Amino acid sequence: MKGFAVLSALAILASSASARTVFSELVVNGVDLGHGVAIRVPSSNVPVTDITSNDLICNTGFIQPVSTDVAQVPAGAQVTAQFHRTSAGYLGPDPSDPLDPTNKGPVLAYLARVPDATQSDVTGLSWFKIWQDGLDPNTHQWGSDHLFNNKGNATFTIPSCLQAGQYLLRVEDISLLNANSYPGAQFFMSCAQIEVTGGGQAQPAGTPFPGAYRSTDPGIVTNIFLDSTYTPPGPAVFQC
Ligand SMILES: *[C@@H]1O[C@H](CO)[C@@H](O)[C@H](O)[C@H]1NC(C)=O
Repeated sequence: MKGFAVLSALAILASSASARTVFSELVVNGVDLGHGVAIRVPSSNVPVTDITSNDLICNTGFIQPVSTDVAQVPAGAQVTAQFHRTSAGYLGPDPSDPLDPTNKGPVLAYLARVPDATQSDVTGLSWFKIWQDGLDPNTHQWGSDHLFNNKGNATFTIPSCLQAGQYLLRVEDISLLNANSYPGAQFFMSCAQIEVTGGGQAQPAGTPFPGAYRSTDPGIVTNIFLDSTYTPPGPAVFQC
């Protein structure tokens, strides 16, 4: 029986190593903007695994042409980032959509102020975290479990005190299934192009990507089968 259990665990690991997810659609205060609108959607659902790569910022290999739309987002708005298994979005019932449910890990959202949300250069920006969903120690549900149960919807609020202007919104799912050592964690992210309207005066301090994550972070190197508590990587969540 023990041997069988080990084999089953290996089979699960092998079958889920290919599980993928892509953030490709934005919903603002209940209004769905449509697939790929105001988002740089990577054409491949292959994860980024090198946390020193510029691909960690907003991903790479975008579906062309990249959207030139900038989503109007009132400060304090409720925003939903929709993830699906492939860059094509929702394709019908699929047990691995929006992701393989064995791919446990956190879901996180960041913003960076930019002169022009459609600019192609995303290096040298300063990112602050506005939301994260790690591991609930009571239910033992991960952010990825909530994402799966919510059919790919990750919902959070844009800080109401934020200064108006153009921003990139980086929403990320991290699979920790193979994160026992580095590299191992798999990073799935896209950036949406938004213009925050209204708001206040807050200009939160940020951290760079790459740089916000380190190969020694307990949020990057961990064992999901042993974790009872978990702290997502990156800075603390900004609060107004
Ligand atoms: C996901 O978001 C869309 C758009 O707002 C909504 O129509 C749908 O009901 C949501 N699904 C779940 C399971 O929350």
